[in-house]
Amino acid sequence: MDMQDNAIDVRRKTFLKFSPPNLTEAEIQAVVETLRSGWVTRGPRTGQFETEFKDYLGAASALAVNSCTAAMHLALVALGVQPGDEVITTTMTFISTVNVIEHVGARPVLVDVEPDTLTLDPARAAAAITPRTKVMMPVHYAGHPADLAPILDMAQQHGLKVIEDAAHALPAAYEGRKIGTIGDLTAFSFYATKNLTTGEGGMLTGDPDLVERARILSLHGMSRDAWNRYDAKGDWYYEVAVPGFKYNMTDIQAALGIVQLSRLEAMQQRRREIVDRYNAAFSQIAEVEIPTERTNAESSLHLYVLHLNLDMLTIDRAVFIEELKRRNIGSSVHFIPIHLHPYYRDKYGLQPTDFPVAYGAYERIVSLPLHSLLSDEDVQDVIAAVTDIVKRNRR
Ligand SMILES: Cc1ncc(COP(=O)(O)O)c(C=O)c1O
Repeated sequence: MDMQDNAIDVRRKTFLKFSPPNLTEAEIQAVVETLRSGWVTRGPRTGQFETEFKDYLGAASALAVNSCTAAMHLALVALGVQPGDEVITTTMTFISTVNVIEHVGARPVLVDVEPDTLTLDPARAAAAITPRTKVMMPVHYAGHPADLAPILDMAQQHGLKVIEDAAHALPAAYEGRKIGTIGDLTAFSFYATKNLTTGEGGMLTGDPDLVERARILSLHGMSRDAWNRYDAKGDWYYEVAVPGFKYNMTDIQAALGIVQLSRLEAMQQRRREIVDRYNAAFSQIAEVEIPTERTNAESSLHLYVLHLNLDMLTIDRAVFIEELKRRNIGSSVHFIPIHLHPYYRDKYGLQPTDFPVAYGAYERIVSLPLHSLLSDEDVQDVIAAVTDIVKRNRR
């Protein structure tokens, strides 16, 4: 340990987790009741969760599945995307957005992002359209909606479909419309770290015909699910029209989801308070930039992504994260851009600087703890840690 190591003031004695789930006795009871009900896989609770989720958003239709990845895969298959087709998306996303394009044999066409929101840059997306383009997949990065108006215009002009990766974007809105009610299909995630969690899970919303196609594909391609075959009025007969997948949600997950949905607005209110506190503190520090919130959009505030002004600091992002850890603050990076991963880099011959905005952002972003269980003291600990790191490492 050098002098500096000894000198830091670790005011926080326990490690602050980056994003634990906010689960109460109500969720625990709902799961226990489900276990006692005699029906644990897709059944009445999953149906209820779909209805309540659809009504909450005002979406046309909703299908509960076991992940957002599954929802995006089903969306591409339901739209008939196949080898030879191209799908435009952003390099600044989680790997599964792009993996599912590979799964259907199509070509992912990566596009750079806008510097403020790190969402799909509509002008660059326009330049990437070819006669083979079938779908555009904007990602609502960190919960801030992508600029959908020009993307939808382009889609209409060129006869393309729009699948939104809304893994982060519950609840979010664009120009007054809730995310999940805008594009042809929208995929949500209920992964453990998300604003609403079912442990693992996802929802596909959108055009009822497409969602119905996805529903059949989500359970082996069977014409009737098990609940409908095994209840008192049920029938053993089913038909398989397409080779589908095993992507259904279970009633255990749905039981969690129903309670989480009823608590969502309250949890969001807490996120808003925390983000306001972070913004007030960090906007006073020249060495960091706070996340953008555009006036025509409402973010779900899923991630709090701080941008470091590296030219004003003597340390890089990796050391910044180490310094947070030394002060017992968990953090993360969203994301390692897709084009840096060996599979995509090598298959499509991509260089780091092919997407200069995303690559530049990647080197300077750090996601701070943001979840509804953070106490005022936790928030103060994060602010104190960032302030102290900057103070000790400014140029
Ligand atoms: C942007 C984005 N898309 C998709 C996913 C995949 O979600 P899931 O884990 O529910 O499949 C994630 C997961 O964190 C994500 O961050």
